[in-house]
Amino acid sequence: MKILKAPTKEEAARLAADLFEDVIRENPNCVLGLATGSSPVPLYQELIAREKAGKIDFSAVRSANLDEYKGLAPDHPQSYRYFMQENLFDHISIRPENTIVPDGLAKDGEVMCAAYEEKIRAWGGIDLQLLGIGHDGHIGFNEPDTHFPRFTHETALLEITRRANQRFFSSLDEVPRAAYTMGVGTVMAARRIVMVANGEDKAEILKKSFCGPVTPEVPASILQFHPDFTLVCDEAAAKLL
Ligand code: F6R
Repeated sequence: MKILKAPTKEEAARLAADLFEDVIRENPNCVLGLATGSSPVPLYQELIAREKAGKIDFSAVRSANLDEYKGLAPDHPQSYRYFMQENLFDHISIRPENTIVPDGLAKDGEVMCAAYEEKIRAWGGIDLQLLGIGHDGHIGFNEPDTHFPRFTHETALLEITRRANQRFFSSLDEVPRAAYTMGVGTVMAARRIVMVANGEDKAEILKKSFCGPVTPEVPASILQFHPDFTLVCDEAAAKLL
């Protein structure tokens, strides 16, 4: 694995954006795996600015998001589809039909998850997967477990994750208890993976994930085995590495 440290999260975002720029330039038709949450926001702002400056072109890019809350409609302000529209898609030239996010309202979750995997396969797989990391080491919504889930699936959200995400909702009760997420196998199949992590509160879990044993109890630890994994972080997050 490669670690890129930057003094600030804005500088870290520029380093991560360089990786995106390389992949999109190499293959304008590439497939990006995208994430939500606070960590990718500076990166998305940087990518928007680079397209406006004519440095990259999203018009042929395809994207598949990591996860979505079960039960939230795409137009729910806390849904991950809504987040992606607000923070990235509405500001770049990506075509709506070239963006997929798991359907939080799927009538049959298993069928939807299988179709999601199939779509990614039909697109030729993910060229560059973006990740954040939860305080418990989750990637996507793959929470600590006894095994690494392989494919896109429904999952229950742990209390620690619901509490961390409560800041986006008006109360803890409103935070969904389940979500759909790409599996750890879906993520590991990506050709390249980049994780962005900022702030002192991520320092401990980064140490556990990347300086400790590979175990499903710390889902992100499996990234140690990926052949092209880059961690981009600010000084505060990197302080225990
Ligand atoms: C989001 C996702 C989550 C977040 C993680 C960190 O699509 O899959 O794994 O990356 O919860 O969230 P932030 O960046 O808000 O600290």
